[in-house]
Amino acid sequence: MRLVQTAAEVVRETGAWRKDGERIVLVPTMGWFHEGHLALMRLAKSLGSRTIVSLFVNPIQFGPREDLAAYPRDLDRDRRMAEDEGVDILFAPAVEEMFEPQFQTRVSLGAISQGLCGADRPGHFDGVATIVTKLFHLTSPDVAVFGEKDLQQLALIRRMVRDLNFNIEIVGHPIIREPDGLAMSSRNSYLNEAERRTALCLSQAIGRARETVRQSGNAVPVESLIADAVDFIAAHAGCQVDYVSIVDRWSLAPSTAIDRDSVMALAVKINGRVRLIDNGLLLPEAGR
Ligand code: PAF
Repeated sequence: MRLVQTAAEVVRETGAWRKDGERIVLVPTMGWFHEGHLALMRLAKSLGSRTIVSLFVNPIQFGPREDLAAYPRDLDRDRRMAEDEGVDILFAPAVEEMFEPQFQTRVSLGAISQGLCGADRPGHFDGVATIVTKLFHLTSPDVAVFGEKDLQQLALIRRMVRDLNFNIEIVGHPIIREPDGLAMSSRNSYLNEAERRTALCLSQAIGRARETVRQSGNAVPVESLIADAVDFIAAHAGCQVDYVSIVDRWSLAPSTAIDRDSVMALAVKINGRVRLIDNGLLLPEAGR
């Protein structure tokens, strides 16, 4: 595996792959790899002939009161893990390599970026869309793989790819969970043992909603599913609900009734410190 740290070199390397007719698959990440990232890398390897993983803690997607400085980083550890997965290039540029001091361009999406996490994190999704656009230009992939845990990010990138005519296939990977149901996230490393146990209420709230839908049929009112999830989470000491919504997994429009694309999406702050997200379909996926 090559570690590449400059934009010029990544353009050169991926350009050579394209000339050779390779099918390039990109996995954009912010590092601090866990099993969820490794699953994205494995999927990427199965989808093409060359795999490139980007590792960049993108400052423009963090708000002024967010965890940019504290975000966990360990290049040596991540490098070994990516190498073990058979990744061809780990692209890990410095901030100055990606953003000149005069940088002032943003890719900005409309309504799809404004609800859910966008409501509490103004500018976050512009930052994501901008860096992903830059990574697409630099690495010219055929396919890019993103985790479904970031439901809004995935929906928004699919929208952006269509709106801006990127000739890139976007593939989502199902959420990877710990055995007890906690969705894997680099931010789980901020949790102490008690908070880690409390954080199970996110996946449990989705499980309860799914069970209610299974038992009462999908005529159950969306509002009552949301109210039950809010009450359930709020009953856990130290949990503050940012939002619980039920939306269409593709457009993110609020669901008025439960159907096969209805997803419960939620964000919860644990002890005012660690903001976690999770989501899940409320009806089983066809064929599962
Ligand atoms: O999901 C992430 O890790 C980031 O938002 C991404 C897509 C790598 C952009 O910085």
